[in-house]
Order: sequence, then structure tokens, then C-alpha cells
Amino acid sequence: MLLEIENLGVRYGGITALNGVSIAVAEGETVLLVGANGAGKSSTINAVIGLVTAASGRITFDGKDLGSVPCERRARLGIGYSPEGRRVFPTLTVTDNVLTGAFGLGRARQREALDWLVTVFPLLKDRAQQPAGQLSGGQQQIVALARAMCAFPRLLLLDEPFLGLAPVWIEQISSAITQLKARGTTVLMTEQMARPALKLATRGYVMRGGEVRRSGTVAEIRAVALAEEYL
Ligand SMILES: Nc1ncnc2c1ncn2[C@@H]1O[C@H](COP(=O)(O)OP(=O)(O)OP(=O)(O)O)[C@@H](O)[C@H]1O
Ligand SMILES: [Mg+2]
Repeated sequence: MLLEIENLGVRYGGITALNGVSIAVAEGETVLLVGANGAGKSSTINAVIGLVTAASGRITFDGKDLGSVPCERRARLGIGYSPEGRRVFPTLTVTDNVLTGAFGLGRARQREALDWLVTVFPLLKDRAQQPAGQLSGGQQQIVALARAMCAFPRLLLLDEPFLGLAPVWIEQISSAITQLKARGTTVLMTEQMARPALKLATRGYVMRGGEVRRSGTVAEIRAVALAEEYL
């Protein structure tokens, strides 16, 4: 397994957000976490990247226990992360925002990444020199996603990448994820509205109340999501 989450517990003060969550992601898979508001999707993703601390359980990446690895070192291990909502550096240009995701890579790799990213997201070329804070919400989300993809991570964590976006952006993001998968990136993504994400996923988990309630193939997850009105 590339990523193994075993019996993960997360607490915020007195609130238990996650309880006994176990999720495994094999190399090459695209795994989807679906669930309603407050189900624990972001807490799970944030525990993997290291933004929240596990109160119990264990997370291993490529066989390495992440417990003692700080957040910034997890990125260097090959974990890319796109947070929920748009998070850009508003005064940096679009290009510089994207390149912050390739920090530490050589110039040639950065060039390669940018050349590829502008083919999937033409916006990155059209608005290259504009401060990212001047873009629309949907456009900022594209910039944040491009940043997460820029280092060609081994594992890409995407927290609600499609939330509130127009179909044209959803198509571009789906295409970018498909291309990254073809290059060998493994994906763990979350969605409340699972429809576009189900087209990309190979397997999924349904979360509710901080626990995993079901896991299964995309067809099984689609059936559960339909029954529980996530679609
Ligand atoms: N910083 C925080 N402080 C206190 N409680 C929090 C915090 N972040 C999340 N929680 C609580 O933890 C639980 C899980 O929240 P989480 O954000 O992981 O859910 P989610 O599935 O990502 O929801 P959404 O679909 O709304 O993004 C919820 O009960 C939430 O209220
Ligand atoms: Mg969330």
C-alpha cells in the first residue's frame, strides 16, 4: 500500500472528529471519500498531510510512519495537497503561485511542469502575470490545484476539488487528474457531490459521523451515495 491509515482518531479540543478510521490506498489507485458536511473528510486528508495531529492510530506512506514527519517534510516525500476552498497567495502572480508548489525542484522540472500545466489549464497562460487575488473564485481554485500538481507528486490529496465550480472547470480538472494518473500519480480525493469524482475514482469510502460506514467499488459507492442523496 502506498498510503495506509489505520484506526485514525482526530480530536479538536473536546470534539471527536474521527474515530477508528482505516483507509488504504494502493499505488496507482484513485480513491474517493464521500460524505455529508462534517463527516470527517477534511480531517482525514489534513491528518495525512500533517495539518492536524492524530490523537490515535497510525498513518504510513510508502512504508514510512508519518507520525514523526512534520508537514513540510511530507510534501518533500511526494505528497501533494490541495485544500478545501480556494487558497492562493493573493499578491503573487498566477505563475509564482503555481511555482510555490515546485519549490526545491530544479529549473528544468519547473519548466516542464509549467509547460504541461498551461496545456491543461489555459487560464494559467492567459493570466500568468496577474496577481492571483484578482481572479474569480473558480479561477483561484484552478491556481491552487495547479500548485498541488506542479511537483508531480506520488500521492495527490484533493479536498473537494470540484466544489462550486462551473462544468468547464470540472472538465479541465478531471482531464488534469487523468493525465497525472497516467504519469503515475496516486490520488485520494473527497467530495460531497460525488458525481464528477465518481468518473475518476477506482474505489471509494463513505464516511459519516467521523467513521467509515462503507467501502467498495465505484459502482457500490455510487449506489450508496444515491440512496443517501449525495448525488
Ligand atoms: N478546527 C476545528 N475545530 C473544531 N471542530 C472542527 C474543526 N474542524 C472540523 N471540526 C469538526 O470535526 C468534524 C469533521 O469535520 P470535517 O471538516 O473533517 O468534515 P468534512 O467531511 O470535511 O465536512 P465538509 O463536507 O463540510 O467539508 C465536524 O464535526 C466539524 O465540526
Ligand atoms: Mg471538508
